[in-house]
Amino acid sequence: MKTFASDNNAPVHPLIMKALSDVNLGDTISYGDDVYTERSVKKFKEILGENINVFFVYNGTAANVLSMSSFLNSFNAIICSDVSHINNDECGAPEKLTGCKLISIPSENGKISIDSMKKYLHSFGFEHHSQPKIVSITQSTEFGTVYQPSEIKDIADFCHKNNMLLHVDGARIANAVVTLNCDIKDITTNAGVDILSFGGTKNGMMFGEAVVFFNKDFGANFKYIRKQGMQLASKMRYISAQFEALLTDNLWLKNAEISNDMAIYLANRLKEFPSIKITKPIEANAVFAIVPGNIIPKIQEKYFFYEWDEEISEVRFMTSFCTTKTEVDEFVKVVKDLAF
Ligand SMILES: Cc1ncc(COP(=O)(O)O)c(C=O)c1O
Repeated sequence: MKTFASDNNAPVHPLIMKALSDVNLGDTISYGDDVYTERSVKKFKEILGENINVFFVYNGTAANVLSMSSFLNSFNAIICSDVSHINNDECGAPEKLTGCKLISIPSENGKISIDSMKKYLHSFGFEHHSQPKIVSITQSTEFGTVYQPSEIKDIADFCHKNNMLLHVDGARIANAVVTLNCDIKDITTNAGVDILSFGGTKNGMMFGEAVVFFNKDFGANFKYIRKQGMQLASKMRYISAQFEALLTDNLWLKNAEISNDMAIYLANRLKEFPSIKITKPIEANAVFAIVPGNIIPKIQEKYFFYEWDEEISEVRFMTSFCTTKTEVDEFVKVVKDLAF
């Protein structure tokens, strides 16, 4: 079955497959003490600067939860958006593994603002309340929107002024960089981000995400936290080689560019139908739309995608690095034949 459900449904990019195959030769030291890991960490330093600490884990939930847990006591709280992945889609792993309260606050198109955070910051030092320690934002957001560099800098400044840290869930950070046409440093290193979960899986890798700490003093304990968190890959070379390939010749940006372009193309094609309403700005690789409720199951017989909000018949379509125009056109034809 074809899908427009998620970039998680996409296959592995051929160059990543090649990288996996290329490193599949002979013995190599395990647990990350290998030349491939060294080389891919170097690649991360090339794009994010020298003053970082990088660790690889298997998946995005682990990247989020374990990276934040390095800074948290169970009496702390994490401020995040009400629609964030850490709040809705990690089965309570952040709460279970950090012991912390998640304070989910109202968002607009997936983004949170300083104003909406302020009212949760009245209880510093008050022993009856959880103590906010981390603000977590998602870039690009769960609704396919992006934070501008200045918005991230403002949030980071606000965090630091209040003795908090800024975590960015960058499962789709490549899509944001492409949309903003910026240097990734503009929305991370130079914007004051403290912790980043850098996505690989949604952007062409088979598995693997990177945890990046933007301060050499951060992350000193992370190797223990990762091991306790059961995310230390013994055959680390197979994550590292994928990242090395992804960060070579800008493959990470090229993949995200295709993905973003296809989302815009899909949205524009859907705009041809007066009864379909695009509901969120298209700034990354997701298209949210209200579609007549009676045709959703019929389209789903041919294409898998998620109904996001059943009450208003809002669905999410998502594109990936290997979505093609032809595939979009075929999909739109199915929609047209069913509905009109
Ligand atoms: C915004 C966001 N963060 C993190 C993740 C990571 O999830 P996983 O643990 O499934 O790799 C996802 C996966 O869909 C996501 O959409």
